[in-house]
Amino acid sequence: MSAGHEIVQHVPDLAMTTDELADAAGLFDAIVCVLTDRISEPVLAAGAAGRLKVVGNIAVGYDNIDTAAARRYGIAICNTPGVLDQSTADLAFLLILAACRRTSDAEADLRAGRWTGWSITDHLGRDVHGAVLGLVGYGRIAREVARRAAAFEMEVLHHARHDTGLPGYVARLEDLLPAVDVLSLHVPLNETTYHLIGRAELERMRRGSVLVNTSRGAVVDETALIEAIEHGTIFGAGLDVYEDEPAINPALLATPHTVLLPHVGSATIETRTQMARLCCEGVNAVLSGRVPENLVT
Ligand code: GLV
Repeated sequence: MSAGHEIVQHVPDLAMTTDELADAAGLFDAIVCVLTDRISEPVLAAGAAGRLKVVGNIAVGYDNIDTAAARRYGIAICNTPGVLDQSTADLAFLLILAACRRTSDAEADLRAGRWTGWSITDHLGRDVHGAVLGLVGYGRIAREVARRAAAFEMEVLHHARHDTGLPGYVARLEDLLPAVDVLSLHVPLNETTYHLIGRAELERMRRGSVLVNTSRGAVVDETALIEAIEHGTIFGAGLDVYEDEPAINPALLATPHTVLLPHVGSATIETRTQMARLCCEGVNAVLSGRVPENLVT
């Protein structure tokens, strides 16, 4: 790093346990981590007892960090907003297309040798063009999804906690749910969004609708989602995030009409490079007494 800091890298590139993190936290001025590292209260306490001043999270979401504890201990937290909006929106739109058109089911059949020839009734999905898209949360990523949807001639509605004052705003989530063919989630995970989409919400959705989640797994009650798809309450789902990732509910693997990706929303060489750079810039700024734009707390 050009700022002249000494860097100690944890090898291998695997999430550290709380004990490992707590043992290390007090030895460093800064930690650069990823969303699989749980920066919990004991880790921050150990850091505060040592020399820890800042934690940089190479992610826009920071539900892996106890921000209230960080505030108490005076440890700064940085994240990576802005630089992953387009690639995450691309991935969300990929899931919209893939879930509506059932591409995973179709490809699995082809690869397994189950495809016996063109059939007028095989692998029937849902049209994306002309469908109504509902965005839950209307931050930067959701707005990028809306731009892509416009090119597919979708009608776009959105719900957010605060009135955006923009066309397509729906004040109540319960009113958005029955009005859309595709529901795409773009909210951070916190106590107000945990299981935001559960059984009651799924029951309000259109029978032919599709749920897409590129935010955090626990925003959706996965058990309720599996039941909803199996019972035909909704048509299907495209997921990039899971309640207990990397563990995947085995029932989900067996659920038809699903497209399942391993949390790759921002996984392009260009975007991950920019995320790492932005995170380290924030950390450097804090270490040199400046307030970075990507300061969370
Ligand atoms: C990825 O999930 C992120 O929050 O950046």
